[in-house]
Amino acid sequence: MAFVRVCAAGDVPLDMGLRIDMGPEPIAVFNLDGEFFAIGDTCTHSDWSLSEGYIEDGTVECTLHMARFCIRTGKVKMSPATEAVKYYPVRREGDDVLVDLDGGAYA
Ligand code: FES
Repeated sequence: MAFVRVCAAGDVPLDMGLRIDMGPEPIAVFNLDGEFFAIGDTCTHSDWSLSEGYIEDGTVECTLHMARFCIRTGKVKMSPATEAVKYYPVRREGDDVLVDLDGGAYA
């Protein structure tokens, strides 16, 4: 595992997401009630960024066709997407948010 600093905690407002382009694929970091999570940023339905999606009940809604993904696991919660995105290990050190960019996995 190789955790790297991807942003400051303050870069991701409460219940918002931030796209990060530092690893093998773009990821989206989310701030859920002050806890940080990272999933693949690319919606599996039709290649759309999830980082600016609408957040509700621990899920993010893709802004293109409204599929929903669990922010903790990357699992699909609502169609039209049918395939999960990866989730990534996240660590917080002070004001830094660190993600294992090579550690993405499917739940
Ligand atoms: S691109 Fe995300 S639901 Fe269609």
